[in-house]
Amino acid sequence: MIKVAFFDTKQYDIPGFEKYKGDMEFKFFETKLTEDIVNLTNGFDAICAFVNDELNDRVIEKLCKNNVKLIALRCAGFNNVDLKYAEGRIPVVRVPAYSPYAVAEHTMALLLTSLRRIHKAYNRTREFNFSLNGFTGFDLHGKTVGVVGTGKIGKIFINICKGFGMNVIAYDVYPDTTSDINYVSLDELFEKSDIISLHCPLTEDNEYLINKDSINKMKKGVFILNTSRGKLINAEDLLAGIKERKIGAACLDVYEDENDIFFKDYSGHILQDDILARLISMPNVIITSHQAFLTEEALDNIANTTVTNIRSFFEEGKLINQVTN
Ligand code: NAI
Repeated sequence: MIKVAFFDTKQYDIPGFEKYKGDMEFKFFETKLTEDIVNLTNGFDAICAFVNDELNDRVIEKLCKNNVKLIALRCAGFNNVDLKYAEGRIPVVRVPAYSPYAVAEHTMALLLTSLRRIHKAYNRTREFNFSLNGFTGFDLHGKTVGVVGTGKIGKIFINICKGFGMNVIAYDVYPDTTSDINYVSLDELFEKSDIISLHCPLTEDNEYLINKDSINKMKKGVFILNTSRGKLINAEDLLAGIKERKIGAACLDVYEDENDIFFKDYSGHILQDDILARLISMPNVIITSHQAFLTEEALDNIANTTVTNIRSFFEEGKLINQVTN
């Protein structure tokens, strides 16, 4: 029987996995995996972690001491894992894609909501306020969208934008030369885009890709969309850009210091993160708490791929979907 400890488990995670019980034993911990609680992994063969679990060198060292043999990420991103330290000590596998459609569609949902003030209109009409003041948007048709990262999600988002009649330009460190995507330099993308959408992973090279300098290069009134990773944007610089009215709107599904905040209910509490609180207070900022992936199809794919990754390793000695340094 393969024993797997899940961390940062939410109610919606469990049904997808429970159907695979039988030859595997699952223990679902609500707590995030951190150095303080890593001892909970004692007696398990594998751990299953999500985006905000801490897999730094100290946690990995303790996992190895506890004889845990596999880190199975149930997400695509792996910036929370110290891969250098894991190398040669414990293998790391992931779910490379669960539903790129879910993330791309959520990105467009955020853009349309913000641009056409749907969130405001919903609240107004609930109060029987049928005024339209302050709701003027603009047509997406004919506008230029700059897509940073043209992998699985970026490409689907590009197609959605083309469906709206938008002009698409893109930047990628590895452009897809087999596609008809119109690649430009990052600076040109910043200068020409009415809307900028981030669909690249967070790496050592692109932390704070959106910062004071890059914001300075952008058009006045630019919409910035981020459904990738929080640290791609310097939140303080973003806030400054919004206050100066340089940035027309920001739609964020991720935030640089989301780890201790997102996925939890803090209503009735005093939010300690002043930058996040100020961003939320802005009329032209919409924040969702890392929910872009959350569709039925994605949850099914996550469970299926994770269980296959774990079984292949323990039953056949094969590492599929491994992430290496
Ligand atoms: P992918 O691996 O298919 O594509 C990523 C693309 O980004 C590749 O074409 C790559 O060459 C490019 N890239 C890498 N570094 C870059 C850089 N510095 N600048 C520009 N482009 C760069 O990944 P996929 O599936 O499209 O996912 C993209 C990102 O979306 C993930 O890395 C993850 O951070 C995020 N994500 C967010 C979710 C959410 O719920 N909000 C769910 C799933 C993924």
